[in-house]
Amino acid sequence: MILPGNYVRDLLRSAPGAAVTARGWVKTRRDGKNVHFIQLNDGSSPTDLQVVLDEGLVAAEVVAKITTGACLSVEGELVASLGKGQAVELKARTLTVHGAANPEDYPLQKKKHNLETLRPLGHLRARTNTFGAVFRVRNALARAIHKFFQDRGFLYVHTPVISSSDAEGAGSMFQVTALDLDQTARSGEPPDFAQDFFGRRTFLTVSGQLEAEILALAFANVYTFGPTFRAENSNTPRHLAEFYMIEPEMAFCDLKDDQDLAEAFLKSLVEQVLGDCRPDLEFLSKWYEPELFKNLEVVLAGGFERISYTEAVALLQKSGRSWEFPTEWGCDLQSEHERYLTEELIKKPVIVTNYPREIKAFYMRSNDDEKTVAAMDVLVPRIGEIIGGSQREERHDVLLAKIREQAARGMKEEAYWWYLELRRFGGVEHAGFGMGFERMMMYLTGMKNIRDVIPFPRTPGNAEF
Ligand code: 4AD
Ligand code: MG
Repeated sequence: MILPGNYVRDLLRSAPGAAVTARGWVKTRRDGKNVHFIQLNDGSSPTDLQVVLDEGLVAAEVVAKITTGACLSVEGELVASLGKGQAVELKARTLTVHGAANPEDYPLQKKKHNLETLRPLGHLRARTNTFGAVFRVRNALARAIHKFFQDRGFLYVHTPVISSSDAEGAGSMFQVTALDLDQTARSGEPPDFAQDFFGRRTFLTVSGQLEAEILALAFANVYTFGPTFRAENSNTPRHLAEFYMIEPEMAFCDLKDDQDLAEAFLKSLVEQVLGDCRPDLEFLSKWYEPELFKNLEVVLAGGFERISYTEAVALLQKSGRSWEFPTEWGCDLQSEHERYLTEELIKKPVIVTNYPREIKAFYMRSNDDEKTVAAMDVLVPRIGEIIGGSQREERHDVLLAKIREQAARGMKEEAYWWYLELRRFGGVEHAGFGMGFERMMMYLTGMKNIRDVIPFPRTPGNAEF
């Protein structure tokens, strides 16, 4: 394996004279006079390591195998490079081809590929410059998230992937079963979930929030970072059926504190990733989003705008636009509305608060007007909603009434017994939010389709790899 100090990233920063072994995959080979130039990368760097292989050092049939996509080890000496773009290059002494990649059928030849044609190549696209950059940013973002919370004393907690309750009360869950469905179908009887693995119906979780609330009422400040699943049939550039969500949950916290934390969080993530991945972001900006740095800077410059839902609706109504979806008070804000507010009108991130209770989840705290709840959505240019959160309903009687109201829509009071009981034993005002990891990735990388910021996207009709 490659040990620290031997990644291409490290070798490129090493002083000439060192004897090293480089390992990786060939980007290109160019043949000069009596010499071959090989661009090699192990995914650690946006810049390839140039290997200089003197003609005759390895047999002609080995050279023939050094083609784009082939896997090599090269042992030799780092020397000062005469070519521009790199300080050092590797003068090969021995070279081993581990796996060839026949140019007749290796699909990733040197030319620029469009992102759509790379999607069916999920097993190979990680080797391209673009996905190298995107997945390094993904790693840096994950690290930045942990650092932000760890620096503030938050406890990283793990909430279950398999769940028996619908955390959003929206009914878009994937069912999990160990029942033999073929057998059930043959029997002609409806499935008996009491006989299922968990003795009840279970699903893939849509959010870890409800369990995070349990832990916030023991550890005060916690966060989750894990996969969540939504069986909505939304085939859009911003929706995945399986995505990662980060959900902080804080006791002794109201909606104002929640907004402050969300704002500090986004600013910190942008700042850290800009610091860690500037060359990757420059590459992505050059090829995919000329406005990338400008978009990121608006997050850092000044405070986010904060408006109520009611104000947002008024702004939409007086915009003079014709909208695809209605903008009456009571209707949910759609992507077109969100983007207009943040991208065109206010031109920076916007936090919209206090939405009508009818369009928001059951757990959100009712405001005194009884028409709205203490919800917040953070909107950013180009993406729209990147964070959704709220202060939670901590009053047992109010919450119980809310759950009972939803019984007609299939919500079962018994399934939420523990959630209700938390309000009876040592409850306190608390709040939290969820950030879609891939939405943040889109914002940071300038990628226009969410399928291009996760290695193996899950979308309707698509679960290859
Ligand atoms: O607004 P959502 O549905 O909120 C919750 O799930 C709350 N339980 C969060 C909380 O308060 N703890 O989802 C939160 C965020 C959205 O703002 C969006 O960024 C992202 O998750 N998201 C998706 N990302 C990709 N694909 C999807 N299908 C998504 N649905 C939501
Ligand atoms: Mg939301």
